[in-house]
Amino acid sequence: MPVIGVINQKGGVGKTTTAVNLSAALARLRNVLLIDLDPQANATSGLGLLPSTSVLDVLSGRSSARRAVLRARQRNLSVLAASAELAGAAIELDASADDMQLLAKALIGVRPSFEFIVLDAPPSFGSLTLNALVAADQLIVPVQCEYYALEGIAGMMDTIERVRSSLNPSLNVLGLLLTMADQRTNLSQQVEANVRQHFGALVFDVVVPRSVRLAEAPSHGLPIFEYAPGSAGAVAYEALSEEVLRRVAEA
Ligand SMILES: Nc1ncnc2c1ncn2[C@@H]1O[C@H](COP(=O)(O)OP(=O)(O)OP(=O)(O)O)[C@@H](O)[C@H]1O
Ligand SMILES: [Mg+2]
Repeated sequence: MPVIGVINQKGGVGKTTTAVNLSAALARLRNVLLIDLDPQANATSGLGLLPSTSVLDVLSGRSSARRAVLRARQRNLSVLAASAELAGAAIELDASADDMQLLAKALIGVRPSFEFIVLDAPPSFGSLTLNALVAADQLIVPVQCEYYALEGIAGMMDTIERVRSSLNPSLNVLGLLLTMADQRTNLSQQVEANVRQHFGALVFDVVVPRSVRLAEAPSHGLPIFEYAPGSAGAVAYEALSEEVLRRVAEA
């Protein structure tokens, strides 16, 4: 039962869209827990949830993960929600090994209950993302198809390597995911070619297209499969879930 972190310190690249829709796709076949580690709480609100308990209760030791988990409306999907107060807590955590391992330790009790755990990380390299890196087995790195796509990726790979060699030897990059691709533009095609040249087979075959449906779905509190089934975004995230299942089985 892998823990899959969706991370990129760059903002607005499609982390939350990927975490929510991948979780929803996997939940059609498996029992899934989505953990929202971002004080913006976009994954939580994107599923239409108003949290009574949150991951903050777990990180602060007020609650076990088991008790803080909420049921989403979707079958087989549970959520450990975020709240704005998570920002304050993140400031109090430091880069000590103890603080970086808080999430990983808190998840030990719930890991056997889920076949997949998906972590939505915030856009920064602060203590919450470090907790995600220590708790995860696999990482998905969304890369927006834009001119500065690769900016920051090298630094992030270094950080991942450091976490692997210190606190989490089992950490593996499952793949880079190209998002918001507009296949009609040269720029998008060039970025895709460039990323594939740099990272080869590490890049998922699936490319997520730019689609207004994907951007609208969270305001209705719905995954893409319920908001716009059959849309290009739904097809892409369905295909991503299949590729993820295949890659995890091979890893
Ligand atoms: N494939 C897509 N097509 C169109 N819009 C998209 C797509 N993916 C994401 N978006 C939109 O782009 C914005 C950023 O996406 P998202 O919130 O998933 O990124 P993020 O990396 O989680 O951002 P942050 O770093 O702030 O957490 C959102 O408004 C989202 O709805
Ligand atoms: Mg986000």
